[in-house]
Amino acid sequence: MEFQEIFSDQEIGSRVRELGRKISEDYRGDSVVAVCVLKGAFVFFSDLVRHIDDQVDLQVDFVRLASYSDQTSRSGRMVFSKDMEIDIKDRNVLIIEDIVDTGHSMQYLRKVLAARGPKSIRIAAMVDKTERREVHDVTVDYPGFALSEGFIVGYGLDYAERYRNRAGIFDLKMD
Ligand code: IMP
Ligand code: MG
Repeated sequence: MEFQEIFSDQEIGSRVRELGRKISEDYRGDSVVAVCVLKGAFVFFSDLVRHIDDQVDLQVDFVRLASYSDQTSRSGRMVFSKDMEIDIKDRNVLIIEDIVDTGHSMQYLRKVLAARGPKSIRIAAMVDKTERREVHDVTVDYPGFALSEGFIVGYGLDYAERYRNRAGIFDLKMD
């Protein structure tokens, strides 16, 4: 197995700061519920929320999605293995995800949360694999980095539950 660093600790840090600044401007004087999609987004989430300034009234919550395959649809079926605790009716919701790849997970999550009557839903993702999108109505409002190919680990992202603790983001080559 070979690791090639594609985004360093420093690069990630400055990009997350920029995203935090933009989000702070967009929600200035308003309130938002920031939703961390476990497990992969936990590092990005904790960095990003600390760069959203106190002009935004922010609350945090957590979800975990699980998918199981089923023969009838390629996307499989998704369920919450952990749901939110805060009531999002009439609230601004900011979903914070690690990677949006095909888009199926975000499409599911957005649909379920939209049914609860929030005022708005936006998506932030550390990595947006736009070219691999299968669900074309899923767009990332606050993308960290765009990536066209490769399997990446580090900064919260895993391969078989490992390497989440690495500070940078690495392309993993398996042989
Ligand atoms: P989607 O439903 O295809 O958009 O899947 C997105 C999910 O797949 C992400 O939340 C990640 O957990 C996982 N994923 C996609 N690409 C990668 C990768 O390169 N490294 C680690 N996890 C990935
Ligand atoms: Mg994930």
